[in-house]
Parts: sequence; structure tokens; C-alpha cells
Amino acid sequence: GLVGSEMCIRDRCMDERPIGVFDSGLGGLTAVREIRSILPFENIIYFGDTSRVPYGGRSREILLKYARQDVHFLRSFDIKALLVACGTVSSNVLPDLQRESDLPILGVVEPACRKALAVTRNKRVGLIATAASVRSGAYERTIAAMDGGVTVVARACPLFVPLVENSRYRVGDCVIETVAREYLEPLKAEGIDTLILGCTHYPLLEEVVAKIMGPDVTLVDSGAQAARQLRDSLARHDSLCGERQGGITLYASDITGDFGALAPQFLREPVPQVLEVDIDKY
Ligand code: DGL
Repeated sequence: GLVGSEMCIRDRCMDERPIGVFDSGLGGLTAVREIRSILPFENIIYFGDTSRVPYGGRSREILLKYARQDVHFLRSFDIKALLVACGTVSSNVLPDLQRESDLPILGVVEPACRKALAVTRNKRVGLIATAASVRSGAYERTIAAMDGGVTVVARACPLFVPLVENSRYRVGDCVIETVAREYLEPLKAEGIDTLILGCTHYPLLEEVVAKIMGPDVTLVDSGAQAARQLRDSLARHDSLCGERQGGITLYASDITGDFGALAPQFLREPVPQVLEVDIDKY
């Protein structure tokens, strides 16, 4: 309305409240990296549930319990929006979280599906994700609702997250290359031209995946697409931040020795001091 837009001009839409982001571990930092690049003025509070990673093999009931605690913790700050930077939580329980909250809560499934439909030419889209994400059927449902003529070929890749969390994601590493070939060659044989990286850990595997899938397959980074949707949502709510460089505050439920070394590989910028949180209290 008029009042809103007047305020917006006067205050330059200075909604400096932070954005909350969470994932099971460090993977969601790939989405934070994207938020930082397209929304450099935003303040971000990130929570990585490192004491309970990985989420990808767990049941829906446990995922809902964990996700509620993660949301509850982030809501203890005055956040203006929340990004579920986890394919597993987004595909299994996002509607529950949205129903329980008055806050804009975004996930990674819908933005990734939208992008995949925009880029596919032969209407054959692949999905790689955790076992729980694939089992949920959320990507197939979302794509079917947008375009009934698209075939989705999904493959669970349960070994990817532990390998990435152990820095075994580089081209030339024979462990990741062997595992990736086993997962991806059947997808390649299906003739897909687009592949959704349906887990926020997977952008680190981009080169390994691209090497196997070849130049004719377009990779869709779900966290990056979600970051764009977050920008649109904040703009719609007149709640983008002002003109000062935003900061990141990092929380984890278990700070292990390698956290400090691993986090910058996901974030691609120096990482601030990580703070520990007892997630059982939420
Ligand atoms: N990075 C998360 C995802 O996007 C979770 C991976 C896991 O904890 O298994 O699915």
C-alpha cells in the first residue's frame, strides 16, 4: 500500500532483521554462499545440525521432530524469513513447517523444479538426492503439477553426503569418482538433459558430476535456485535489507575439529567463529 511504499522510500527498505537458514550439516552453506552473492546486504543466521547429520536416511517422523527444533531455535532470533536449505527436510516436511509458522518459510524443492522445467528441452529430468528425499516423491509431484509431460528419473545417492562432509568431492579422487559413476551412469543412460542436484551438499560435486554426465546435461543447483526465490519473496514483502554489508552468524549443534576447515569449502569465504547450541533444548 501507499504507507508501505512511503516507508520503504524513507527507510530504503531497511529491514535489518536476519534471515534464518538451516541444514543438517554444512551443505546449506552452499545456499548461504548464493544468498551472499545476490543479497550482500542481508544478515544471515545459519544453523547446521552437525550433531545429527546426516538426515538423508531418516524417517519422516524423525525429520519432522528435528526440523521443528531447528525452526524453533532460529525463531529465537527475530528473523524475517527462513530458508530450509536442506533437500531432505524440504521434500518431506516443508508444508508442516509452513503451516505451523506465520513466517515466510521457503524450501529448495519448488525452485529447483521450476528451473529444471525452464531448461529441459527433451522433457527428461533427472534427480539426485538423499534416500529420504527420493522416497518422498516431492520432486515428481511438484514437476507433475507444473507440467504433466515431463518424465522424472530419480536416484538416491546415500554415500554422497558423508563423502562430501569428509572433503572427498574432488575430480581425481578415485573414491568419489567410483561412487559417482555407479550412481550416475544409469541416469545418463536414461537420456536426461537436465539434472537436479537435490541436496545442498551436491554443489561441491558439480565438477565430478559434470565430468560423468557430459556437456549436454544441465545441472540445477537447488540451493542457488532457492536463494533467488528468497530474494523475490523478500522483495515482495518489502523486506530487503539496506546498504550495509551484511554478516553471517554460524551456529552448530556439535563443533568438531574439522568444522573450521570444512565450512569455508562450502561457503567460499572466511568463516566467522562458530557458536555451539544445544539443540535438545528447543
Ligand atoms: N544437505 C541436506 C539435503 O539437502 C541433507 C543431507 C543429509 O543430511 O543427509 O538433503
